Amino acid sequence: MGDARYDAIGHGYAANRREDPELRARIWAALGDSRTVVNVGAGAGSYEPPDRHVIAVEPSDVMAAQRSADRVPALRGSATPLPLRDDAVDAAMAILTIHHWDDEAEAGVRELRRVARGPVVIVTFDASVSAEMWLLADYAPEMTALDASFPSMDELASWLGGTVQVEPILTGRDTPDWTLASFWAHPERVLDPAARAATSGFARLDPEVCARVVADVERDLHDGTWDARHGELRTLAAYDAGMRLVVARP
Ligand SMILES: C[S@@+](CC[C@H](N)C(=O)[O-])C[C@H]1O[C@@H](n2cnc3c(N)ncnc32)[C@H](O)[C@@H]1O
Repeated sequence: MGDARYDAIGHGYAANRREDPELRARIWAALGDSRTVVNVGAGAGSYEPPDRHVIAVEPSDVMAAQRSADRVPALRGSATPLPLRDDAVDAAMAILTIHHWDDEAEAGVRELRRVARGPVVIVTFDASVSAEMWLLADYAPEMTALDASFPSMDELASWLGGTVQVEPILTGRDTPDWTLASFWAHPERVLDPAARAATSGFARLDPEVCARVVADVERDLHDGTWDARHGELRTLAAYDAGMRLVVARP
């Protein structure tokens, strides 16, 4: 279950997972003129708009405890069922969370659609694209295997119905939101236990597999193999590591 997972891995999340300003601007633009918004899998409150009425829903006590005083308190619950009537709010948002909903993913995404009169705004990963990033492709095929359960963009579109737009979100080199995608530009980050711990990609790995990945990346950085293979990435400002903005309108 996602809540237990985040009770275990959520410690210290807020320190390494700060809002990315560009992503924030795109989420807020997608919310349009909605005045009431439910944020599901709300976590520590990243990307919640300060100028609208927000209802936050979050299953993990550890994550909810990291919400700052300027955020509304989170109702403790998961995406299924949402404690709201049909069409109760103008918009629903689910940011970097639905890929943790496991068996609840379809029902949860349908819940977002049910409770929102207007846009449903989702930020998630297209696993077929993130699998191509060097970390997964060269060092951690186990992550790719785990990501196979992520909803595909076609599944999302069919669960949401209506008009669905899927847009790539390039991950900037200097993003302050250290998702696994942010590692594209920073192989050294693999050696940082706190950075690893704030990503579910690493936190889900078997500890022995994780130790192997860290040792392999450390060796390849030290002997120049990583730079020989991927050094051109050090010259890029942004990269498509599979993050997607999904905006559904009824
Ligand atoms: C990577 S965090 C993202 C938090 C926040 N939305 C953000 O952008 O920083 C994923 C969140 O999803 C929550 N989550 C996991 N399973 C869930 C479920 N079935 N329903 C709702 N939230 C869930 C976790 O507890 C965690 O807080």
